[in-house]
Amino acid sequence: MSRELNAIITGASSGIGKAIALAIASVGGSLCLIGRDKKRLEQVAQASRAAARRTLVFPADLSADHAVEDLARYVKQNFNSADTLVHCAGAHTVGSFEKISVDVLDRLYRLNLRMPYALTQALLPLLKSQKGQIVFVNSSQGLQARAKASAFASTQHALKAVADGLRQEINAEGIRVLSVFPGRTATPRTKALFENEGQAYRPELLLQPEDVAQIILNALQLPRTAEVTNIEVRPLAKSY
Ligand SMILES: NC(=O)c1ccc[n+]([C@@H]2O[C@H](COP(=O)([O-])OP(=O)(O)OC[C@H]3O[C@@H](n4cnc5c(N)ncnc54)[C@H](OP(=O)(O)O)[C@@H]3O)[C@@H](O)[C@H]2O)c1
Repeated sequence: MSRELNAIITGASSGIGKAIALAIASVGGSLCLIGRDKKRLEQVAQASRAAARRTLVFPADLSADHAVEDLARYVKQNFNSADTLVHCAGAHTVGSFEKISVDVLDRLYRLNLRMPYALTQALLPLLKSQKGQIVFVNSSQGLQARAKASAFASTQHALKAVADGLRQEINAEGIRVLSVFPGRTATPRTKALFENEGQAYRPELLLQPEDVAQIILNALQLPRTAEVTNIEVRPLAKSY
């Protein structure tokens, strides 16, 4: 039998992070959910509670250093059985290289790379004590940058490097590190993106957040003799 999951999930108020939270709840896990929007977080918490052993909610803007420190302190005090850290909060932008400013690059870097780096570092002693696991929800852009995505893709390439280097260091301590590289997924972010680009949004042609969540849950529940390191997942319909 796989062991119970006690998961901290950033970006849990929406999209892929929300689906991961509900998937872990469905197998009786415990959750600490993080996002800025308290109301949406509470809705996810409410939906999880029928199946989850315990659900905590920590509303925070993780782009602020103090919020990362506050979260780490909160987890140590209230959720010291945490054994799984899922990084799913992130920011995204699309635009030609000539138009994406350095300020935008800084904003992406702060949330997509600096924050997961700092949060992982802060929680590593706890995760080590639990022989836990860390999931970085990356992006297909973390493997191959496309046009109009160099700023976002650069943070995702760097996030892969963090995961790869960390894995090499901490496997020996019984911690697993997984990077997941989804293609376009039907989430509020993608809907907004399509609308901004004036494209028809057909979510049924995209990956579903629940698909990504199920794949991650499967990897988290594998026997401890195995580690899944990298997962690429694409929509089957190549419509975009
Ligand atoms: N959708 C796709 O096609 C796709 C494809 C590949 C990879 N991904 C990756 O999957 C992850 C989730 O994306 P999604 O599509 O599910 O997007 P989404 O529906 O917009 O969700 C993003 C999540 O991040 C949280 N978040 C954003 N800024 C935050 C901040 N400053 N502090 C704390 N939380 C913050 C949001 O919560 P609040 O708004 O409540 O703060 C929300 O829960 C991202 O890392 C993204 O790069 C998405």
